[in-house]
Amino acid sequence: MERYEVPFTYQYERTMELLTRPGLLLAATKRSGASNVMTIGWGTLGIIWGRKIFVVLVRPSRYTYQFIEDSGEFTVNVPTPEMSDWVSFCGTRSGRDVNKFAAYQMSISPGQRVRAVTIDACPLVYECKVVHYNEVLPPHLSPEIVAGSYPRGDFHRIYYGEIQGVFAHAAQS
Ligand SMILES: Cc1cc2nc3c(=O)[nH]c(=O)nc-3n(C[C@H](O)[C@H](O)[C@H](O)COP(=O)(O)O)c2cc1C
Repeated sequence: MERYEVPFTYQYERTMELLTRPGLLLAATKRSGASNVMTIGWGTLGIIWGRKIFVVLVRPSRYTYQFIEDSGEFTVNVPTPEMSDWVSFCGTRSGRDVNKFAAYQMSISPGQRVRAVTIDACPLVYECKVVHYNEVLPPHLSPEIVAGSYPRGDFHRIYYGEIQGVFAHAAQS
């Protein structure tokens, strides 16, 4: 289905709600053309440096990390309720072991402004280019959060993706 460009605040509340549960789908494509997808539950959408930014947190152990490092791009894809099984699959299985797109016959297409793929069945996608990253620094983080979220280390890299475009399927009447 064709997608149309929408303002970056389009369905903001819904995006944030789905980030909480069941999660959004972070996809990335290497320069070689290989793509991968994982579920994210943490992130934020706002303005930094006068630019529209989607911030995502990715642990270096994730296979997807290598794809973002290689290409400097990612897409955030908002799933439909019917996709919740796949969202949990993408959050529990690694692309090192299984092609997650093929496993659920999910078709993908390159973004309109980035080479990273978008998931065709997702009604809303954010296409992003990394303009900054930094690490979560344990000495700067509340000890309670370090203990609760990082019992095994593997501190996230925080990617700041400048939004190149937000695209949505036409609303169903
Ligand atoms: C609901 C949910 C939210 C998640 N959020 C994140 C996240 O924000 N950052 C992260 O690094 N991993 C997150 N994960 C874990 C990854 O999705 C999971 O480890 C995935 O299998 C990684 O796939 P990959 O190895 O193919 O990259 C989440 C998992 C679930 C189920």
